Amino acid sequence: MESSQVAVIGSGLIGRSWAMVFAAGGFKVKLYDIAQQQLTGALENIRKQMKELEESGFLKGSLNAEKQLALISICTDLKAAVEGATFIQECTPENLELKKKIFAQLDLIVGDNVVLSSSTSCLLPSKLFTGLKHVKQCIVSHPVNPPYFVPLVEIVPHPETDPSTIERTYALMKKIGQSPVKLNREIEGFVLNRLQYAVISEAWRLVGEGVISPTDLDLVMSDGLGMRYAFIGPLETMHLNAEGISNYCERYREGMKLVLNTFGPVPEFSGETEQKISQAPSLQHSSQPSPSGSTSLIQAMSEKIPVVPKHLNARREWRDECLTGLAKLKKQMSSN
Ligand code: NAI
Repeated sequence: MESSQVAVIGSGLIGRSWAMVFAAGGFKVKLYDIAQQQLTGALENIRKQMKELEESGFLKGSLNAEKQLALISICTDLKAAVEGATFIQECTPENLELKKKIFAQLDLIVGDNVVLSSSTSCLLPSKLFTGLKHVKQCIVSHPVNPPYFVPLVEIVPHPETDPSTIERTYALMKKIGQSPVKLNREIEGFVLNRLQYAVISEAWRLVGEGVISPTDLDLVMSDGLGMRYAFIGPLETMHLNAEGISNYCERYREGMKLVLNTFGPVPEFSGETEQKISQAPSLQHSSQPSPSGSTSLIQAMSEKIPVVPKHLNARREWRDECLTGLAKLKKQMSSN
């Protein structure tokens, strides 16, 4: 149904990743940015990533890296970039005015059959698309960083988005191997960030109140909850942790309410707790007791992963390797 050509607007972190995901799915990609230099750098980075992925056996799709690379071309002319595309994925900086300007430009040059999709993390479709002539064709497709390794895409419609736009976007995401979910209406933070912020908020409170160290807090997720959440969500967890959902509610409803009623107000995310977390102990040595009872004995998190590109990027690379391994495992487990 869809032509096999898409346009990606903005060639930063997310734009590059989308370009790779579309190319892995066999789509021709026109990657647009305002500066030629930015695009050249992006293409070079994509080439490097694809080669490395191919060497390590993690390249997605059925085409080899050279063939996938050949599908991606770069362009600094917006009109030329979107010509022939049936899907446009916008990936410019998270700035409402800038994005509105870009969608207004696109609105003037696109036809009636293209989907105009934004990668925005938190701007509501009603803020981005209201008033556009092609509003029925507009949608948010919010990826998770890094989209190449984490497949979820939240599809969020504007109140006037046509149902066919939602369906086409959903089908396309499936086709390129992503894992789309549909929101029936827009809501602040969409769903992923609402869940994420609920977790961050409670984590912040627990550390702030001295209940647990920052390092151990992270372990609760990475060696506890996160292990199962990579495979089943919180609702299925309820179902399996008792004899079905109703039985879970019967058993735990009062306990859950009791605990939830002790949650405090929204934290400020600043001040003492911020200092405490940014100087948290290393991720690896949490089980070592601290004779002084403080966290200072253990290497600070910012020492473990200094906030400089070299160290942050090394840790990100490690994270991406973990996610790739996890994706493989998930695939293996689901085909069992
Ligand atoms: P980025 O800053 O890495 O890339 C933005 C790109 O847009 C740059 O290449 C820049 O040159 C280009 N650009 C700036 N003005 C432009 C214009 N007028 N026309 C075309 N291109 C223009 O940003 P990043 O991280 O890739 O984010 C892009 C979008 O994706 C944002 O809306 C962000 O909220 C969303 N997003 C980001 C995630 C993340 O973790 N970084 C995760 C999920 C969504």
